[in-house]
Amino acid sequence: MNTGNNIVWGNGRITFPQNPSPAAIRPMARAFHVVCEKQGYQEVSLDFSSCETLFESFMLPLVAISQLYIRNGVDFKLLLPSGHQLRSLFHNSNWAHLISPRHYDPTTYEGKHHVPAIHYQNGQTQHRAVDSIIDAVLSSLTNLNRGSLKALEWSLNEITDNVLNHSSSSVGGFVQASTFSGRNVVEFVVADTGIGIPESLRMSDHKRALEEAIKEGVTRDKNTNAGNGLFGSYQIATISGGQFHIHSGHASLLANAGETLRIIEDKAFFRGAVVVVRIDCSAEHLLEKALRFGGQPHDPPYDYIERRFEGGEPDEITIKLREETDSFGSREVGRLVKNKIDNIMTTSRVRRLVVDFDGVFIISSSFADEVFGRMFAEMGPMDFMTKIEFKNVDSTVRSLIDRAIFQRAANPGQNGASK
Ligand SMILES: Nc1ncnc2c1ncn2[C@@H]1O[C@H](COP(=O)(O)OP(=O)(O)OP(=O)(O)O)[C@@H](O)[C@H]1O
Ligand SMILES: [Mg+2]
Repeated sequence: MNTGNNIVWGNGRITFPQNPSPAAIRPMARAFHVVCEKQGYQEVSLDFSSCETLFESFMLPLVAISQLYIRNGVDFKLLLPSGHQLRSLFHNSNWAHLISPRHYDPTTYEGKHHVPAIHYQNGQTQHRAVDSIIDAVLSSLTNLNRGSLKALEWSLNEITDNVLNHSSSSVGGFVQASTFSGRNVVEFVVADTGIGIPESLRMSDHKRALEEAIKEGVTRDKNTNAGNGLFGSYQIATISGGQFHIHSGHASLLANAGETLRIIEDKAFFRGAVVVVRIDCSAEHLLEKALRFGGQPHDPPYDYIERRFEGGEPDEITIKLREETDSFGSREVGRLVKNKIDNIMTTSRVRRLVVDFDGVFIISSSFADEVFGRMFAEMGPMDFMTKIEFKNVDSTVRSLIDRAIFQRAANPGQNGASK
């Protein structure tokens, strides 16, 4: 039996400690290396049964590394955490499936506070992953402003793009995100098992490599890249009062709100890069303050809201309900859809909303009330009639919406009473 920073391995089994922190990324990588490569085990048990907390910043590189060995024929068996919540997290976050695809199905989690780990290997799957994170943010956070959303989307694009551009990772990249609604905070983690930032920048001093990487204009190739991605993301995260961490090679860069920047070295090695970005979306004027290149402000054009919703008539946005959700049965889903509509209306600042019901043949009365009854109550009859247009509404659906609105009109103080 060998131990390494609390991670224990031997006889084709790797056992994880109670609370593995990101500092355990390197011992974890070493354990996989020894068991799967040096000792050549083709069946490996990963024992999480003693774990009590697991962070995305630890699990996503673990997912990336296991995918690397799966390609080489290794079959991982999981001993899941004993606690019910952490066990569910393994399924919901898609970790179980990505680490052990032969034994676990892909996640069916449909909530919006977490976006499960997504594996991407090309521009198309990368953009789909970024879109699903922005979509989750629109559904779960409130009072968003367009600038913060743009800053978040820009950073997500840059960090995920770096994997495809620079890492030479044979398994591509992995991204996962969570939203924290009380504080309007979004955290995302991107991991790969490629060559790592120091090697890409051809710097043997790994601490210096990370220090340089977050500076404006630092890139491996000035002919093809501007060197803005990590710099801009670092600015957005730290100026918002969030967090920005990189773990790559022998070094980690740790920027936390209210603390001075720390860059630390580790004897152990992690081949690849993990970037953790936490952005407080409620920060005022975040885009204008944080995204400046060559002293000039940068306003990313053609963002998610524009692409998805603003394509039609000027001053009007269209929401195709069928594309927003698969189920129209519950108050909870209604709440998410309503929250998203509110965010789109405020961030877009348009005056008219078209709700397209194409392909929607049945909705529950609680969904109708949560979305349209509530909208009617908040806007009042005149605004509701002039600003909202319904398109392609089936007659059954129309009568359910009518009823929800009548009930709201009869009981203006009602607050989701018909549960
Ligand atoms: N995942 C990664 N793997 C390996 N190297 C990376 C990774 N991410 C960043 N790098 C290295 O860090 C450098 C700086 O990255 P950054 O995103 O700031 O700029 P860039 O990608 O070169 O240019 P831009 O983002 O403006 O197109 C990259 O040129 C590359 O050398
Ligand atoms: Mg980049």
